[in-house]
Amino acid sequence: MATEQAPHWHRWAERCESILANAIHSRADGDARLAEAMAYAALDGGKRMRPLLVYATGTALGASESTLDIPAAAIELIHAYSLVHDDLPAMDDDALRRGKPTVHVAYDEATAILAGDGLLTLAFELLGQAPMAPPMIVAMLQTLARAAGMQGMVAGQSIDLAHVGQSMSLEALRQMHGAKTGALIRCAVQLGALTANADATACAALDDFADALGLAFQIRDDILDVEGDPDLIGKTAGKDAVNAKPTYPALLGLDGSRALLAELAQRMDNALSRVPADTGELARLADFAATRAH
Ligand code: IPE
Ligand code: IPE
Ligand code: MG
Ligand code: MG
Ligand code: MG
Repeated sequence: MATEQAPHWHRWAERCESILANAIHSRADGDARLAEAMAYAALDGGKRMRPLLVYATGTALGASESTLDIPAAAIELIHAYSLVHDDLPAMDDDALRRGKPTVHVAYDEATAILAGDGLLTLAFELLGQAPMAPPMIVAMLQTLARAAGMQGMVAGQSIDLAHVGQSMSLEALRQMHGAKTGALIRCAVQLGALTANADATACAALDDFADALGLAFQIRDDILDVEGDPDLIGKTAGKDAVNAKPTYPALLGLDGSRALLAELAQRMDNALSRVPADTGELARLADFAATRAH
């Protein structure tokens, strides 16, 4: 687990887990089986990278952990929904996620679609009730909606699927990764910075950091699909090649992809050096993103 690497990570992941569990279980009276599928998808698994980024950014800039809890949980709900839908037969058609059968395999396709819908909408319900001043809540809702939606993650997923079996220029691939994965990673950092009322200089440097981080995170994901240990990644390896997906290893090879990761690591370091705060936890998360085995 990521959480072996830094004591804060474990505590932050636990805080997020408890908000998610309460949020889902307390609404199970809507439909118990739907709530069970949502809990199956969102609880007790995953690296919690996006919540960790919310906490690491926010606390570095002086926000308290308790004010970061809801933004951290909200972005993880969006991420969990994106994975449930990403695994559907109409998309990547994957049978394994976080070491367990995917939601449509464990339940059924309709339940997986609805569980995704439920997680997506719960994110905004929670964020709308965050204990913050209304203008701050509105800013967070807009930031999260923009990153998740038709100019962000959803656009990236659409472009990904439209390019199955096709070649892609390096620039187009960078843009696609920037949308499908980068948008939510950048959003996590923005939510942390917003909560802490960060100034424009810090925000600009952090956004440069997060842009590189999002790309690095997906390049590492692409590399792990080729050479990762299935027991560690908790997904079926080799699926990108089978599905003829546009990925960095497909375009640049493994060595070219690793070289780009090294460049991005340098860019992340440079960006963090321009943030006037103790960015140690963010640097550790950046290192993890680029070198992780799961
Ligand atoms: C997988 O995300 C999909 C990508 C955006 C690369 P993660 O690698 O963060 O998945 P979990 O949350 O740890 O399972
Ligand atoms: C998915 O990218 C990004 C999302 C927005 C979910 P992938 O399709 O490569 O993610 P994995 O490998 O299935 O986790
Ligand atoms: Mg996909
Ligand atoms: Mg996938
Ligand atoms: Mg992948």
